[in-house]
Amino acid sequence: MSRTTSAGTGARVQPLKAARPTRADRTQPPGARSFLSLADVTPEELDACLAEAARLKQARAAGRRRVETPLSGRHVALLFDKPSLRTRVTFEVAVRELGGEPIHVPSDVALGGRESAADVARNLERWVDAVVIRTFAQQVLEEFASAAPRLRVVNALTDEEHPCQAVADLLTLQERLGTLTGRTIAYVGDGNNVATSLAQAAVMSGMHVHLASPEGYALPDRVQAQGARLSRHGATLRLFTDAKVAVKGACAVYTDVWTSMGQEHESRRRERAFAGYQVNEALMARAEPGALFMHCLPAHRGEEVSAGVLDGPTSVVFDQAENRLHAQKAILSMLFA
Ligand code: CP
Ligand code: NVA
Repeated sequence: MSRTTSAGTGARVQPLKAARPTRADRTQPPGARSFLSLADVTPEELDACLAEAARLKQARAAGRRRVETPLSGRHVALLFDKPSLRTRVTFEVAVRELGGEPIHVPSDVALGGRESAADVARNLERWVDAVVIRTFAQQVLEEFASAAPRLRVVNALTDEEHPCQAVADLLTLQERLGTLTGRTIAYVGDGNNVATSLAQAAVMSGMHVHLASPEGYALPDRVQAQGARLSRHGATLRLFTDAKVAVKGACAVYTDVWTSMGQEHESRRRERAFAGYQVNEALMARAEPGALFMHCLPAHRGEEVSAGVLDGPTSVVFDQAENRLHAQKAILSMLFA
């Protein structure tokens, strides 16, 4: 199957704003600045964010780790309802390096049903300036943003989206490939949170996106429909069931786990469904010569990716992990600009 949706700097820190009617517009009063979804960000804002991330990375490499920013002296609550290594550590470091103070809020207290998400948000709004949330339903983030308009809410992964990951992924692609317009990235695997945000960010950057998934695990319809609205420079979003066809012409091949957090009860069924979707040497050989291998991590060698590809010379997975820090510093800087 191949369905096509015709989906179609440099600026220093600019405030993030919702530029078109989106869920965030419906739930947040004007002026509120949150980062719930890439669908709420303009391509120009994404460009500016990537440029700021690159600038912050360079500054850090030159020894300027801790800088005075609008975040200085402010508090940021970190609320993780699912496990995390990369996102948790990089947000904590990011807040500290921008001069702020991270506060860890135990998830059983904040999201365990002790009180409503809206009431938790209204409390936090009185004490802290932003909240970084990893949870299950995207709706919870929207409730936070709606109930507490002074609170900046940042999506640190939901079942539906992982926008901070996608900003780091685009930064990694830019570093390795330069201009991304007209290039093709292939994503092989589950049409999940990571696939959604990657597809959104890539079409916004002018990249053609090929997604190969088994029947029943494709990118959600709403994300396919968004492709046309988000696309720049004629970028297209195409869905495949055959991974071998999807990777043809791709300068990068991306995969993620077959079973995401919260889906553990489905893992046997998913192992069967995804058995033909491993990214291995044979599949990489069908992509462009020298194609990059990408994964958000954590990865499972021998399942969604072979050990040889994950640990091979074109794998950029640890660059992606490093860039989570720089990307999130840029996102926070923009929210506080
Ligand atoms: N890629 C990513 O979000 O990693 P963590 O789950 O460890 O935060
Ligand atoms: N899709 C994975 C991503 C982990 C970073 C999950 O949601 O578990």
